[in-house]
Amino acid sequence: MPATSDDLTAVDPMDRSLHEQGPPHELFARLRGGCPVHPGTGPDGHRFWSVTRDEDVTAVSKDPATFSNHRGGIFLHPDQVAPLDFLRQVLLFKDPPEHRNYRRILASVFTPKAIAAMEDTVRAVVTDVIDGVVERGRADLARDIAVPVPLRVLAGLLGIPDDDVDQLDDWTHQIERAQQSDEPAGATAVFGEMVGYLHQQIERQMAAGGDTLVTRLSGAEVDGQRLAPEEILTFFGLLVFAGNDTTRNTIATGTLALLAHDQWSTLRDRPEIVPQAVEEILRWTSVVKYFARTATCDTEIEGQPIAEGEKVVTWFSSASRDGDLNEDPDRFDVTREKPQHRAFGGGGPHACLGNQLARLELRVLFEELPRRLPDLALDGDPVYLDSNWAHALTSLPVRFSPGPRTA
Ligand code: HEM
Repeated sequence: MPATSDDLTAVDPMDRSLHEQGPPHELFARLRGGCPVHPGTGPDGHRFWSVTRDEDVTAVSKDPATFSNHRGGIFLHPDQVAPLDFLRQVLLFKDPPEHRNYRRILASVFTPKAIAAMEDTVRAVVTDVIDGVVERGRADLARDIAVPVPLRVLAGLLGIPDDDVDQLDDWTHQIERAQQSDEPAGATAVFGEMVGYLHQQIERQMAAGGDTLVTRLSGAEVDGQRLAPEEILTFFGLLVFAGNDTTRNTIATGTLALLAHDQWSTLRDRPEIVPQAVEEILRWTSVVKYFARTATCDTEIEGQPIAEGEKVVTWFSSASRDGDLNEDPDRFDVTREKPQHRAFGGGGPHACLGNQLARLELRVLFEELPRRLPDLALDGDPVYLDSNWAHALTSLPVRFSPGPRTA
């Protein structure tokens, strides 16, 4: 029986218990149909609005003058993860026009040509990581494969020595935990530690010369001014936050989707469809469930008045399942032609800068894994991260016939 709008306003899509087995897609479908601009109360006691339709998610994302990242940050609590004043130095927390100048710097490093040139490096990392488990016949895919692949690619990009990769991993976990925590600014100390470490990296890499992200950033200019070391640091911090967990979570939840829908063998037998399968995996998993923006003036969405200062939460995971984007959106199908999704955001000024790198990592991984572990199967229950923000697995036990290492 379809729920009425009244029933729906009483439901809280932020309720973590609704996310225990992944995003609450059934609820999202009902919200899109019956309550597309849904009221809620944030952890700071302020009213906020959830938008679930693709049309609204993209409209809000593309209108930063009305819906600001800078004013109240990207989470419900302004000081989630770290104090807002600190976070405002980060690209993702800036609004145009300042945002545009900073984004241009990072965009110059993430050109399609530069990313395409990374394919051999990415394949070498993926091959080495698979070599680490292939003889065992069993693995925890979420930890043994999904964690090290993006982490090592990112460490390479940032010029961080192999010995320090575990430290980087630890920091990313602490930031992720702070995102779930009810305590504001839980990652402040982690950022302090990272700042010290990254200062050393900057000095080391500048002294060594060569072409790394750091040396490029240190040569870049905004409005004719070189970046200060603190600004280079915030780019580092952003990439650690934005480029790591996201790719990791897509690998783990994407593999689970393939296994749960019996489509592992499809990828194994038809490697030529991997690029489109990656888009379907991105659509299906949409691992960043939402971002929040703050209304800069009184406005409205779908006729619902939104007051200045209220937050609007754009549910990317819901938009990716909107029937306006794809036919039969609740069917997972790696043979789907040109799947459309909002996994990388609603297409506004903050649209994911690392999407080409993420796509490269996912393509190489989903080419190599089914080839090397052709009979991969679930070997226990997956464990979801307790989060209403990240669609993530902390454990995905798998088994497979042991195979040889490459060398
Ligand atoms: C599957 C993996 C990934 C997913 C699902 C993802 C998702 C997202 C989303 C949803 C946004 C916000 C979009 C918006 O607000 O409209 C974003 C922004 C961003 N992402 Fe990604 N991302 C991924 C991988 C990466 C990687 C590998 C990097 C870089 C190494 C990266 C760097 C960034 C940056 C720098 C931003 C901020 C852009 C800005 O504010 O202008 N992401 N990403």
